[in-house]
Parts: sequence; C-alpha cells; structure tokens
Amino acid sequence: VAVNIDGVLYGQDNARVSVFDHGFLFGEGVYEVLRTYDRRPFLFPEHMKRLRASAARIALACPLTDEALLARIRETVAAAVLEGDAYVRILLTRGEGEIVYDPKACPSPTVVIIVKAHADPPAEAMVNGVGLSLASVVRNHPGSVDPAIKSNNLLNNALAMQQAYREGAFEALMKNHRGELCECAQSNIFFVRDGVLLTPPVDAGLLVGVTRGFVLELAAASGRRTEERVLLEDDLASVREAFLTSTTREIVPVVRIGTYTIGEGRPGCVTRQLMDAFTAGVP
Ligand code: PDD
Repeated sequence: VAVNIDGVLYGQDNARVSVFDHGFLFGEGVYEVLRTYDRRPFLFPEHMKRLRASAARIALACPLTDEALLARIRETVAAAVLEGDAYVRILLTRGEGEIVYDPKACPSPTVVIIVKAHADPPAEAMVNGVGLSLASVVRNHPGSVDPAIKSNNLLNNALAMQQAYREGAFEALMKNHRGELCECAQSNIFFVRDGVLLTPPVDAGLLVGVTRGFVLELAAASGRRTEERVLLEDDLASVREAFLTSTTREIVPVVRIGTYTIGEGRPGCVTRQLMDAFTAGVP
C-alpha cells in the first residue's frame, strides 16, 4: 500500500489527514476509483472527466492537470511495489479550514491517492453468478445530493451494503425515490430481456459508471440492441439475465435478486459474450 497526500508519499501506517479537513468534518469531497491493466491506468480520461464534473457540482476544482495527477498516480503505484495490477482511489476534498460551511475557509483542497493491490472478484462469483439483496434504503434523490456526484458521502451505500452482508448477498440493488430500479451500492446494473440489453437511464438517479459506458459501447459494437430503460421490481420476474458492472469488478453475472431467481439461475449467454468482449477489449 502507498498513499500520496498532496504530493507527499506515505505508507499505510502514517498516512493522515487533518480532522479540520472539511472532507472529514462535513463530508465535502468526491472520489474516483480506477485500476491498472498491465500497470497502466484504464480509461483514465473518462475517470478524470467524471472527477472534475463531480467536483464542479460541489463548487470544488481539482488543482492538478490530468497529466500532473497521472504522474502522481504513477509515482504512487511505483511506491506501492505491487506484484500485479493496482487499485487506485483518488480523493479530492475541500481541504483544511475553520469549522464553518463557507468554502472560502479552505484555501486549498486535499488530494489523496491510495494505491493497493487490485483483487478480482472471487472466481466462483464469475462462474456461478452472485445474489443481490434488494436494499430498503433508497438511492439519493437527484434533487438533493445528485447521485451523479461520486461523493465521499456513502452512508446510503454503506447502509445498503450492511443489509446485503446480513442477507449474505454480494451487492445491494437500490431503488430510486420513484421506486424504479436504479443501481447497486458500488456498481451499475444491467438486464437482458428478449435479447435486448437493458440498463436504467441516467435520470433514474445513478452514478454514470465508466464501466457502464464501456459495456454499452461493447454491446453496440457487437450489434446488440441496447436500451436505457426504466425498470421496476416486477420486471425481475421477466428478465432473462442480469449482471453488474464496475471498475474493480468488470462484469459479474447476477442470478438472484431478493426473492427473484433471474432466468435459469445461471449466468446467461449474453452476459458471457460481454464478459469475453470485455476481456478482449482491455489492454
Ligand atoms: N464504485 N455506482 C456506484 C454507486 C459506484 O460507487 C460505482 C463505482 C459504480 C460503477 O462505476 P464505475 O464503472 O465507473 O466504476 C456505480 C467504485 C468502484 C467504488 O466505490 O469502489
């Protein structure tokens, strides 16, 4: 593990930020998670674009250019001396200041990069698929803290995952304030019905996953019809396949959601095709 705080490298045991950082005091911060393939950060421009968009939505600016941040990531990855690929978490917070909400109290944002070993999901999950719990906590209302902000405020997600752990599920599928299926606590959700790849639309109030975008492109390139579509819990009875996507998990087949068995209860063939296309599509 290596941690870079405002350009200075630390080990896991001495990486510390101030309790007066508004990221800690008020949860004012945004983040990104990316990973390397063959030691190179994957889809870096897309992650930077989202980081800047998240930051802008809370009136925060990333003080580094993409190039400068990439150089810092490379330095931190090198310092972590890993065997394989890296998990890279970038956190950008308001910075240190008086205990007042005024952003002017914080002259400079804090930029943290945490690098640790990337771990693939268990092989068993990829082969047999996983179960999701249907979270009772609702995803943020887009009119409050917009879910498009990849915010460090992860209480909803943490509560949804607590339920998933209690239920022995791999992930938690969350609904939005209208009761529509939205996304998981740490990943986006896809379904297949009548051969069409379906995923909830952005205005369902979800984080616009970089992997979600990549998978939609892969599917379109292979000639599959894709549709961003509102789906309800009842639709779980008629979808034939389901899978989740995220940076660290790529594509994971889903075979159970709450009390619903998806399709035959086994990873489906469209899911498998996309998993293969994903593997072929990464550097
Ligand atoms: N999670 N939705 C939520 C709520 C997420 O936190 C994430 C990512 C995604 C998938 O986005 P992407 O494909 O860009 O990784 C969807 C990261 C990996 C995390 O918190 O660890």
